[in-house]
Amino acid sequence: MRTRIIAGNWKMNTTPDEASALVAEIVSSSTVQQAPLSVRIVVCPPYLSLSSAIQSSVGSHVVIGAQNCHHEEKGAYTGEVSPVVLHGMGVKYVIVGHSERRRDQFENNELVGRKAARALACGLTPIICVGETLDEREDDITTDVIGTQIRLITSAAGEDVIKGSVIAYEPVWAIGTGRAATPIQAQDVHAFIRSELHIFGAQDVPILYGGSVTDENASTLFTCRDIDGALVGGASLKASSFCAIIEAASGVHGR
Ligand code: PGA
Repeated sequence: MRTRIIAGNWKMNTTPDEASALVAEIVSSSTVQQAPLSVRIVVCPPYLSLSSAIQSSVGSHVVIGAQNCHHEEKGAYTGEVSPVVLHGMGVKYVIVGHSERRRDQFENNELVGRKAARALACGLTPIICVGETLDEREDDITTDVIGTQIRLITSAAGEDVIKGSVIAYEPVWAIGTGRAATPIQAQDVHAFIRSELHIFGAQDVPILYGGSVTDENASTLFTCRDIDGALVGGASLKASSFCAIIEAASGVHGR
């Protein structure tokens, strides 16, 4: 049975106090308290709110992730954050290659692969994001784009790193737009990603869907064979909607 994961990406939202309060609210909800251990719950606050989020999560089913990390452990990289430090703080996961970083910080697949490799070597589980733009989907090259992303990331990171990671399929046109992929669109790409991972024996890696996931569309998405959970942006900023998404994942029988 593949692990199911519901991860919240809080992006540049929440002060340390707000993060602490939001984690406390999530942790104390009956959904989270009753969620099966086979559903992993991850929240990814901004760097400066990690510490307070970790404190509020202690002893609970919720673990904390970061939204990015550097590809080296230490050195002359002004303003960067080392995966060693994140791990030492108690962070368990790290998102790498989110489309907002690819767009705004010009991160490419090779760098994403190097970040994933370093993160895993430092004890973090990378959540590696891939996805096509609207133009690419309309040009009917979605699988070419995603296949290339996976191949380039894998060649930079190494196959064993991918085997220890989580993949998030996040169509760029669905992020923050309120226009989620349909279950059929998402399942098609997830099945393609799984077949690409199968080539080197990584077919059991959890593949999350991300892009306008809400408490309304989550349960239908989770019935899809190759969707193992979600990377949730906007809807993870409210405990009620995030917990409803966790509940939808908890109700799906393992595969
Ligand atoms: P969204 O963001 O759920 O707000 O669309 C998802 C993400 O960027 O990970």
